[in-house]
Amino acid sequence: MIRARIIGTGSYVPEKVLTNADLEKMVETSDEWITARTGIRERHIAADKEYTSDLATKAAQNALDMAGVKAEEIDYLVVGTITGDYPWPATACIVQSNLGAVNAGAVDVSAACSGFVYALAAASDRIQAGHAKKALVIGAETLSRIIDWEDRNTCILFGDGAGAVVLEAQEGEAGILSTHLHADGTQLELLYQPGFATRILPSIEALKERPNFLYMQGNEVFKVAVRSLTEVANIALKANQMKVEDIDLFIPHQANIRILEATAKRLKLRSEQVYINVDRFGNTSGATIPLALDEVNRAGKLKAGDILLLDAFGGGFTWAAAMVRW
Ligand code: COA
Repeated sequence: MIRARIIGTGSYVPEKVLTNADLEKMVETSDEWITARTGIRERHIAADKEYTSDLATKAAQNALDMAGVKAEEIDYLVVGTITGDYPWPATACIVQSNLGAVNAGAVDVSAACSGFVYALAAASDRIQAGHAKKALVIGAETLSRIIDWEDRNTCILFGDGAGAVVLEAQEGEAGILSTHLHADGTQLELLYQPGFATRILPSIEALKERPNFLYMQGNEVFKVAVRSLTEVANIALKANQMKVEDIDLFIPHQANIRILEATAKRLKLRSEQVYINVDRFGNTSGATIPLALDEVNRAGKLKAGDILLLDAFGGGFTWAAAMVRW
């Protein structure tokens, strides 16, 4: 059976680090509050002229280098992002140009924090259908650009970064085993960016309402996130006739330590099974999962045959999982 196998991973985060102590000087908050409620200690923030496409390009180049694959060999390039450089065209087209991936179709996927898993599913399906041999899947964000830095409810949570994987069509048992995508648009205003697109057009009048920032009702989102992450993880296990004990590494979207712990508890995962790096990067939306995957991979912690469950939740709402045999 042909599967999409991950043959290289890469990541990149901007140099600038914003600590909880830095945030104490910007809004009324404290390191203790942020650490206790979110588990986040620091996050990386893009430099003035550093854009989502720049982070994505660096992460992708690292993944290509690890895979030993040239950019021209890529025939499909997908970026999961909600903070693209422009409303359109796709940030994937900028990355395609930066890398010289001249033979690749390039497109963005907008599924908020589930963007990487949605993008992975699109690329995996294309490979399994025989329409692509090698694909680049990237999650990249500069959330710092849509954060209201005067709003302590949100500005403490998010960071910038990018992660990428190279997929290759391979015969065998290793690779993406299954992907599971879900959405519910009925409550989109619990987590969204109202403007500026075509519903709210930019004007001096419109700007007064500050629609260009991310809005969130944190405690409502919290409940839906735990429920959805648990549900889709169970769906992925069932589809593969696996039990929780079969998972070698659970890589959840790194939103918040309390969401991760509550999900892990519901799934009855042991703490050694769960990968956590939210303390160092915060919530980088579509980038959290590939960033974490690259960290474990480069640390040499993955061995052939390991079962990984990637589990995402984000605005939309969207939620998604991918079962992977390494
Ligand atoms: N520092 C200090 N106090 C803060 C604060 C901050 N940074 N942010 C909020 N508070 C205050 C609130 O104003 C509120 O004060 P009040 O009781 O006087 O009104 C109090 O802390 C409790 O607020 P609440 O929103 O109920 O806290 P919470 O326990 O729900 O924690 C979140 C807030 C945002 C950390 C939590 O809801 C959460 O993690 N939600 C999920 C967010 C998320 O991950 N979204 C992305 C999903 S992809």
